Amino acid sequence: MTTSDEGHSLPATTRAIEISKPGGPDVLRLVPRQVPQPAAGEILIRVRAAGINRGDIVQRQGLYPAPPGITDVPGLEVAGEIAALGEGVSGWQVGESVCALLAGGGYADYAVAPEGQCLPLPEGLSMVEGAALPETLFTCWTTLFDQGQLKAGEALLIHGGSSGIGMTAIQLGKAFGARVIVTAGSDEKCEACRVAGADAAINYRTQDFVEEARVITEGRGVDVVLDMVAGDYVGRDIQIMAPRGRHITIGVMSGKSEATIPMNLVLRNRLVITASTLRGRDLDEKRAIRDALRDQVWPLVKDGRLRAYVHASFPLAQAGAAQSALEASNHVGKIILTM
Ligand SMILES: NC(=O)c1ccc[n+]([C@@H]2O[C@H](COP(=O)([O-])OP(=O)(O)OC[C@H]3O[C@@H](n4cnc5c(N)ncnc54)[C@H](OP(=O)(O)O)[C@@H]3O)[C@@H](O)[C@H]2O)c1
Repeated sequence: MTTSDEGHSLPATTRAIEISKPGGPDVLRLVPRQVPQPAAGEILIRVRAAGINRGDIVQRQGLYPAPPGITDVPGLEVAGEIAALGEGVSGWQVGESVCALLAGGGYADYAVAPEGQCLPLPEGLSMVEGAALPETLFTCWTTLFDQGQLKAGEALLIHGGSSGIGMTAIQLGKAFGARVIVTAGSDEKCEACRVAGADAAINYRTQDFVEEARVITEGRGVDVVLDMVAGDYVGRDIQIMAPRGRHITIGVMSGKSEATIPMNLVLRNRLVITASTLRGRDLDEKRAIRDALRDQVWPLVKDGRLRAYVHASFPLAQAGAAQSALEASNHVGKIILTM
């Protein structure tokens, strides 16, 4: 046992999920690890729940290693109580409930987060709900509003509308006055997107989203596209983008990273074609996103106008089953681990 500055006892070891070798869900092992020590500017969190993300699966497959200096334990977001404060951290109390974006280490009983990536857990929000928010909110905020420059009254097209990312993007788009159109892979998923606030939902397996989006926007097209599919979606999206539209790729769910881009339409409509990743950004950038979320989005979370959509939760020891559930892609919203 060691003791936090405030006199609370901390164990020397923690349970954590280890990726024993690159592979399928069965390579995940529950192992003892040392409790991480919070460095200057960091907060040690007693984790109660952790979000599962697609990035965790790609990491498990050996294709997305943790950034230099970051633990190999997967897990990009948690909720829990503050267990100890690193040097120079002020404004937070041991015992306070928080949720946090991590660069890794969330699949464990204890994890460290930079102070600039923590948000206080609003009263009434469960740990499971809190763990479902950081990764999608940080990603969607910076993608839609920093890079996408989404404005009230504009049309936003979100692919993968029923995903963890999609359900948050729908709510953010609506909360800030956009008209939201989504694509999803079943009628049930489309309905879930409408319930979350989408103005229109297109089942991409039974409908041509290019034709449908053209009709929905009465030929004007969409201003911002949030695309996690890539491949031939990029060229198809460009066919339905309004002048000065912004296209942001955040993932390659199609498995095809190459795209054919109709440059005549990019030129004619003066489009911006860009992409975003969150994990590799530096601490200052992530802190700036946290500050924007705290000031502009947290009031919506506090009064329930923006909520976490949690499909299922699994105990930490069943991290493999939890990741399998995400890969099966029958979910709407998030899948969460509980400690
Ligand atoms: N760049 C960043 O900073 C960043 C940060 C976080 C996440 N991401 C990315 O965002 C994506 C979503 O992450 P998540 O954690 O929210 O995962 P998720 O909940 O598992 O969502 C993936 C979604 O993709 C859809 N999909 C899969 N294959 C598809 C295809 N071929 N065509 C169209 N849709 C397809 C699935 O729904 P259907 O049933 O509708 O197909 C599913 O809803 C991932 O690609 C992830 O890597 C990027």
